[in-house]
Amino acid sequence: MVPVVDLSRRGQRFATRFSEITRDIATSGKILLGEHTEAFEAELGAWTGARHVCAVSSGASAIQLALAAIGVGPGDEVILPSFTAVPTAAAVCALGAVPVLIDVDPATACLRGDDIADHRTPRTRAVIVVHLYGYPAPLPITDLPVVEDAAQAHGALDDPGRSAATIYSFYPTKILGGIGDGGAVVTNDPALDALVRRLRVHGMTDQQYRHDLISQNFRMSEIEAAWLRLGLVELDADIAARRGIATALRAAAPQLTWQADDPRHAHHLCVMRTADRDAARRSLADHGVATSVHYPFAVHQQVAYAHFVRSPCPESERWAAQCVSVPCFPEMTAAELDTVCGALAGLAEAVASR
Ligand SMILES: Cc1ncc(COP(=O)(O)O)c(C=O)c1O
Repeated sequence: MVPVVDLSRRGQRFATRFSEITRDIATSGKILLGEHTEAFEAELGAWTGARHVCAVSSGASAIQLALAAIGVGPGDEVILPSFTAVPTAAAVCALGAVPVLIDVDPATACLRGDDIADHRTPRTRAVIVVHLYGYPAPLPITDLPVVEDAAQAHGALDDPGRSAATIYSFYPTKILGGIGDGGAVVTNDPALDALVRRLRVHGMTDQQYRHDLISQNFRMSEIEAAWLRLGLVELDADIAARRGIATALRAAAPQLTWQADDPRHAHHLCVMRTADRDAARRSLADHGVATSVHYPFAVHQQVAYAHFVRSPCPESERWAAQCVSVPCFPEMTAAELDTVCGALAGLAEAVASR
């Protein structure tokens, strides 16, 4: 069976170099916020073209810290798409703020910038644009601060200065995947970066054990940073491989309904939509292709978040009911790619003949 993703293959690419580095970290005694974290921040800054990068403990904490640094607090409203990973909304709730869940575009699965004005109230403090599956969603034209959730979109964005901050996740399956959890807040704003840095370490000032803000621990470990530095060196090649695979998959079955494409799409996930998802997944499995669903519910369809929606989100619900993720990862072999292309072509024919 061709897997949707195979992390063991990524592990094999870096294992030898990584074991030497972990030994060095262990014997150096510098376990947190040491040379690897500092170097990773500089290297990710160079790669993104942004002036400031703060490495943190996860993508969700990166969203929380970016919003906190913008000034989002209890009772404030933050507009975001309802079709996203739950952590996008959870990060808003962690600040005591209110996620306002709105519908997405049927073609891109991302926020429609024009819809922001309809959902704005005097309490609205920020907007989160999610670049879902790696698609570079357009930013809304607004005077509200925008945080870009690029948890799934490493390499899809070409202008880090266009929003208040961009966040990344390094959850192991992501385009730049960690050896544990990790995230980053990327910005061109020095004041925002300085605040995020303080919030990362319990609100501590530059003076050790002096705290002028209440916060918690959002640090990234040295081990994680060292691993990510290895991945960063090969990231451009990985993204190019993902683009090549996604192009081949779409070309094998152009009759299927795929997420909208864009030359900058980073293809964290290669996703199509089909009205009879169970049958489509069964057909692909019968031809040796594993699939997955990202995500089976829109955020407002989750029990814990149902009260955060104020108007219907039919497109989010349609995406949740119909989306299928097919295998797309850089280590995929040519034989595996052939298998997936063949299975998709067969599915497309079956769908067309119905
Ligand atoms: C779109 C999106 N936002 C936020 C997150 C949260 O990232 P993390 O799992 O690193 O906290 C994820 C990952 O699950 C995600 O896919």
